[in-house]
Amino acid sequence: MKDGRGGKWANAALQNGYSDHDDCMPHQKYVQWQRDCLSEMLRITPPTGAIFYNHKWRVQAGLLQDRHDIVDGFPVRQIIIWRRKGGINFNAGYFLPTYEVIYLIAKPQFRLVPKANAVGDVWEFTQEMQNSHPAAFPVALVERIINSTEAKTVLDPFMGSGTTAIAAINNNRNYVGIEISQEYCLLAKERIATHCAQIRLPL
Ligand SMILES: C[S@@+](CC[C@H](N)C(=O)[O-])C[C@H]1O[C@@H](n2cnc3c(N)ncnc32)[C@H](O)[C@@H]1O
Repeated sequence: MKDGRGGKWANAALQNGYSDHDDCMPHQKYVQWQRDCLSEMLRITPPTGAIFYNHKWRVQAGLLQDRHDIVDGFPVRQIIIWRRKGGINFNAGYFLPTYEVIYLIAKPQFRLVPKANAVGDVWEFTQEMQNSHPAAFPVALVERIINSTEAKTVLDPFMGSGTTAIAAINNNRNYVGIEISQEYCLLAKERIATHCAQIRLPL
């Protein structure tokens, strides 16, 4: 978000970073950190499992950041485009950004459940607007991912407001979430408790 000119996307919810950190690590450090995270995720993924890794592409200083520096060497099988319906970050110099990229990084024996492939590789989901977290995913997006797999347990190491937990609960999967911000942990905990009460599921 911060390009040295006051930010391209002045209205973006993430302009001020997350609650516990400002989200502006130096690029090389960030790349190494993300590679370390992916290595650990892959290490604990079973031979039939996969990682769905969401990351925006960006053009910065004339350079396309297609994240190859992060994913090089990992078993990237496919990219999926998440097309957000609508957006709010208008800037006169740019067409409104409406897509994000999800890398499917898969172990060799990973297979989609029957017919999951029919939806194609461009997914349209309206971005989440009813959430105080600045970068929450829509539940339907995470449900699409979970329902495409036979995963019994889903790990989200960047759990935010708990969207992955809600999607896992809705589809009878176990979940593990990790989140650095205490504020978002509490948000997720409350959201999960409210959701379980609504669907009458004991915690
Ligand atoms: C894109 S948001 C995830 C939003 C989530 N999918 C949702 O729907 O609410 C990324 C999250 O990663 C968290 N985060 C950043 N660094 C972290 C770290 N080192 N360990 C765990 N969580 C971290 C941030 O606080 C933020 O909540």
